[in-house]
Amino acid sequence: MKHLLSLEEVSGKEILSLIDLAIKIKKNPRKFEKRLHNKVLLMLFEKPSLRTRLSFEVAMLQLGVHAIYYDLTTSPLEKGKENIEDTAKVVSRYVDVIMARLFEHSTLEKLAANASVPVINGLTNFSHPCQVLSDLLTIKEKFGKLKGLKLSYFGDANNNVTHSLLFALPKVGMHLTVFCPDKSEFRPRVQVSDIARREARHNATKLIITSDIKHTTNSDIVYTDSWMSYHIPKSQQRKRAAVLKKFQVNSKVMKAAGKAIFMHCLPAQRGMEVTADVIDSKRSVVFDQAENRLHMEKAILIWLLK
Ligand code: CP
Ligand code: NVA
Repeated sequence: MKHLLSLEEVSGKEILSLIDLAIKIKKNPRKFEKRLHNKVLLMLFEKPSLRTRLSFEVAMLQLGVHAIYYDLTTSPLEKGKENIEDTAKVVSRYVDVIMARLFEHSTLEKLAANASVPVINGLTNFSHPCQVLSDLLTIKEKFGKLKGLKLSYFGDANNNVTHSLLFALPKVGMHLTVFCPDKSEFRPRVQVSDIARREARHNATKLIITSDIKHTTNSDIVYTDSWMSYHIPKSQQRKRAAVLKKFQVNSKVMKAAGKAIFMHCLPAQRGMEVTADVIDSKRSVVFDQAENRLHMEKAILIWLLK
């Protein structure tokens, strides 16, 4: 049985075929209306969500099926009454597919190991595969290709979205530069950058991780994510903002990047990781990214349930 836990486990070929399927679904949603007839999706949430929750719920509705939202903070699991293994075994008896947004990636892995239905990662502290798959769909739409494009990421790189970019981009032939502070707290996890470097060598793509912002050059895409991910306590905001300020995406960065488009997975904080003039400019494609979550969630569900 297939799960979608991390893009480390998805091949470049599979990523490209998911993008092709999402493009077909977006062009002709009617054709896919009854594709998953009678299936039920369970959505487990430990953290807040706007896009992930709604895009999966609407995707299921439009595929002719049902989605159940379950707030884990009120569950026996989170009240310490039941473990994740038993939770996985029980819910597998009721539903056809599970999407979970959890803090710990290891909990998601335990959920998948004990479930008898496919499990989708709707974001963990470690990775956010659905986001990056739909971002690649957005990039393909904007440029008509992926291979050879250069994406520059700025900001907090010890981050689920950055990790997913690191896993996926070399596999689809894209070059990636990550600009982040030179502190382990903000750098990608070593296990991820090692894998990404290997993959980049294998596919002859460029991968640079640097704190030297002076190297900012022409890019096709400039990407940033929140400095205050859901799992980061509010008490750290001021300290983190002081360190990350140098890596803010502002008009100076966009000018140095040439004709690049601007991407952000949202939610965004204007004045922190990105200035309002950039995110609200014509170069920003953030709402196309948000829309594409819907088309990509459908492709993921069909891929896992077919
Ligand atoms: N980008 C994203 O996953 O947004 P939500 O946190 O609103 O789901
Ligand atoms: N890195 C962010 C992504 C939000 C979609 C977070 O974890 O909050």
